[in-house]
Amino acid sequence: MDFPYPVAHDIPLILAPMAGVSESPFRRLCRRHGADVVVTEFLSAEAIRRENAATLSKLRFGADERTIGVQIFGADPDAMRDAAALVTDVFQPEYIDINFGCPVKKVVRRNGGSGCLKDLSLVESVIKAVISGTHLPVTVKIRSGWSEEMRDPVKIALHCQAAGARAIALHPRTRTQMYTGAANWDEIARVKEAVEIPVIGNGDIKTPHDALRMQRSTGCDAVMIARGSYGQPWIFDQARALFEGREMPATPGVEARFAVALSHAKMVQEYEVDLDGAAIEFRKHLGWYVKGLPNSADLRKRLHAVNSFGEVEGIFADYLRERERWAEQGGSDAPVDAGSPDAPGEAARLESRPLEPAEA
Ligand SMILES: Cc1cc2nc3c(=O)[nH]c(=O)nc-3n(C[C@H](O)[C@H](O)[C@H](O)COP(=O)(O)O)c2cc1C
Repeated sequence: MDFPYPVAHDIPLILAPMAGVSESPFRRLCRRHGADVVVTEFLSAEAIRRENAATLSKLRFGADERTIGVQIFGADPDAMRDAAALVTDVFQPEYIDINFGCPVKKVVRRNGGSGCLKDLSLVESVIKAVISGTHLPVTVKIRSGWSEEMRDPVKIALHCQAAGARAIALHPRTRTQMYTGAANWDEIARVKEAVEIPVIGNGDIKTPHDALRMQRSTGCDAVMIARGSYGQPWIFDQARALFEGREMPATPGVEARFAVALSHAKMVQEYEVDLDGAAIEFRKHLGWYVKGLPNSADLRKRLHAVNSFGEVEGIFADYLRERERWAEQGGSDAPVDAGSPDAPGEAARLESRPLEPAEA
């Protein structure tokens, strides 16, 4: 399948847009760990058009993040066109993605995100407006519909294709489902059968094995991973190995996990201006990196209270020292194999994922 942007593999693996998570440092990290494509979190077209400083700051990305899409949302076609034009001129990503999936009240109240799905002529107008504002390929990310009664992902996808969208990512839940229930992968297969443009499957990929299973069962052209990347950016390398029939790289042990977390922290410090705020925001990543580690209650508690990046290395060092002590006393410190679908630590980790993201 031909993608409208450069991809290094037949079945690209894509880091999903995630507000507050898929920021520049995490995107870079996931690219290093095998994500073929990354997407910014959703950004308000109105805010971009008004050149809101905080929003423009979120548009910064490094060359090592390419291939990258910038995701915008809004229900005003003129604002969407202007935002696409500014993003194209100033930031030059490989493509512009339109968010038709966000379920959050403050967004859908003004018909943004999945709010657009109530009116497919609005969906078409928005896509056409964005295309008129950019020479870049324009793609969409949709849900299966606004509500169960209006659930019709094939119809939505056909409208998007007709309006000129060059690829469709489907998160097969409705807006009313928010993040509850299972993602309906059959709908990905049905959309794939119905359209000619690339279809990107998304939803409930928690392990590298899930990525393979989704692709095989739906025939989707690319796989997009969101929450499954929390604290385990190596999921992309592991999934790639499975796609290529190679042995899956082992899930990193404790020291290697800490090293990844520290290199992530370093990238955040290089990127962010407000380091105190960034350290507090980074607590969630720290929690994800150490989820499921043995005897980690104290470690998690300390990491969730950090106020500066300087504290993290010492906390990790304390844990490793303690771990040696437990080992001498005969305790187990087997690493958690997050790559295995059967690992108990993985089950616990995934069960505790937030079901309703605060922002999108
Ligand atoms: C914290 C969080 C933030 C999200 N922000 C966005 C966003 O900005 N744009 C978007 O299209 N989807 C957003 N999503 C939805 C994800 O991209 C994805 O569609 C959804 O989480 C299902 O995939 P998963 O089961 O792999 O997590 C967000 C999800 C989460 C958990």
